[in-house]
Amino acid sequence: MRYPRELIEEIRMHNDIVEIVSQYVPLKQKGSSYFGLCPFHHEKTPSFSVNSEKQFYYCFGCGASGNVYGFLMEMEHCDFPEAVKVLAERANIPLPQPQMTGQALALEKQRSRLFQMHKEAGRFYYDILQSKEGEAARAYLERRQLHPNIARKFGIGYAPERRHALYDFLREKGYSTEDILHSGLVLADKDAGGYHDRFRGRVMFPIFDAQGRVVGFGGRILGKGEPKYLNSPETVLFSKSRNLYGLNFAKAARKKELILVEGYMDMISIYQAGFPNVVASLGTAFNREHAMTLKKYAQDVILLYDSDEAGTNAALRAIPVLVGSGFRVRVTQVPDGKDPDEFIKQNGAVEFSKLLVNAVHYISFQIACIRRNYRLDLPEHRVRFTTEAAQTLAKLDSEIEREVYIAEVSRMTGVEESAIQSEIRKLRRREEEMFRQEAERRQVQRKRLYDGGKKEEKGLLDAQKSLVYYSACHRHVYDVLRETLKQEDFPTAVYAQAFHAVGELWETAGNVFPAELISFFEDSEAQRAITEVFAAQPPEEEGVDLEKAVNESVKIIKRASIDRQTAQVTTIEEIQHLVEEKRKLDMLHITI
Ligand code: UTP
Ligand code: MN
Repeated sequence: MRYPRELIEEIRMHNDIVEIVSQYVPLKQKGSSYFGLCPFHHEKTPSFSVNSEKQFYYCFGCGASGNVYGFLMEMEHCDFPEAVKVLAERANIPLPQPQMTGQALALEKQRSRLFQMHKEAGRFYYDILQSKEGEAARAYLERRQLHPNIARKFGIGYAPERRHALYDFLREKGYSTEDILHSGLVLADKDAGGYHDRFRGRVMFPIFDAQGRVVGFGGRILGKGEPKYLNSPETVLFSKSRNLYGLNFAKAARKKELILVEGYMDMISIYQAGFPNVVASLGTAFNREHAMTLKKYAQDVILLYDSDEAGTNAALRAIPVLVGSGFRVRVTQVPDGKDPDEFIKQNGAVEFSKLLVNAVHYISFQIACIRRNYRLDLPEHRVRFTTEAAQTLAKLDSEIEREVYIAEVSRMTGVEESAIQSEIRKLRRREEEMFRQEAERRQVQRKRLYDGGKKEEKGLLDAQKSLVYYSACHRHVYDVLRETLKQEDFPTAVYAQAFHAVGELWETAGNVFPAELISFFEDSEAQRAITEVFAAQPPEEEGVDLEKAVNESVKIIKRASIDRQTAQVTTIEEIQHLVEEKRKLDMLHITI
């Protein structure tokens, strides 16, 4: 949905770009500018600057630039409306609810019926567990040492063996068969035209969203059998790749560190043992969406996946996702191939807390995993192990961290530290070169995008930038230019729009604030193009003859504009008119 421009600006003003950027990049102050290492390309000396006064960022190295919205879009790979949402929330500014179309309204109503239905289904399973039908399940949970008060807190229930017990219950409650089928809790029979429950004879774990509403279920078979766990399918309420089991409870713990495990029972056991800051990713790969969700509640993650091969591989895949989202990540595993639930049952909470204390930096874990594939008594294996480890270490940005782990690898292999170091340096140089090429490639692409596919002279681009800049800085310049220039005279779409937007801001706001102008553009490439206008120009055009500069730029773009029109004329009259225009242009002098 589109938000009003004033609202976009209000939200922007309440989110200081220096503060936002600092959450991702350490910054050093120099006057009203802050400097740091650019998060968008690899570099060793800081060329990334954040201008606190103008509220934008600009990288002298790779040209990345924009205001606070653009920064968030680039960092979080989100689009403009998402950036608006995040920053509005941060500033406690309520966003207007989108105008709902009839269809959206119907969907919203269905969603609220489904929420209600899940709540009642949870209640149904819960009551069955307490009833005669739930006897075996109660015994099972007791064997698994689940405290009754924890079972109640997590809403654990039991789905009876009967073929359509839940269906009958929900129909009786007045739900339509259509809605019931949408919940995924009931399926239509293949032939007979009847219905049957998805979950039968299973211990039921309600899955909550972050707000604590039931959005689905996981059902565990009593004892052995396949599948061990059956889960709700994807529905309008439930997405496996977004939901984290236990987050509604964990977030109440308000710890900045979260334990991340694989299973329902692991999560519950750890919680029961007195560690409420735990969530489970429920048998799906941990992805960026999960990470974004967690980021709201935590900075540190302890990965505690099963110690079998599947669990180890899942942990190895989760690490880059977490690290890439800015989490500090440590890893720990339960010894002897047990899972956390079994470990706690056998060893108790104190031993478990030692496992957490002994969690290692993720790099150590990665190196240990690589190590397992090699026999270090064989020279050939030492070479391959060291090479592979170097590739992992090269990804570390902190030189200190690299030093520490280089020493570790050196100890393990007997390879000189300096040799590992130079291998890493080589890898990092190669990486940097690739980044540079990518940055260049993007620059070329950007040019193409905004030149409408035409190769454009640098002079023409600079002229447009100058005119946008001067008319944004001085109202009287804009007023004069408006008389001379039409929007179409700007061949580059983004600058044509910017010139128009500058006028709008002078009219409505009475000033043109660079970061506000940037918000007129929702596309991050366009935002970048506008930021460049302000970042590349001197802060105040001291010593520049304003009148001369404006006149030169106007002539450049006017001439190009006439040339473009000339290429398209079809009549003699038009040509005569353009020749006249060009003659007038030579005589033109704008007084400012
Ligand atoms: P595990 O097989 O490790 O189960 O699967 P667990 O948590 O140790 O289960 P218990 O202790 O035997 O009861 C880890 C997670 O993977 C998902 C579940 O979310 C489970 O908690 N899973 C597993 C399924 O979705 N389906 C399955 O058949 C098995
Ligand atoms: Mn288990």
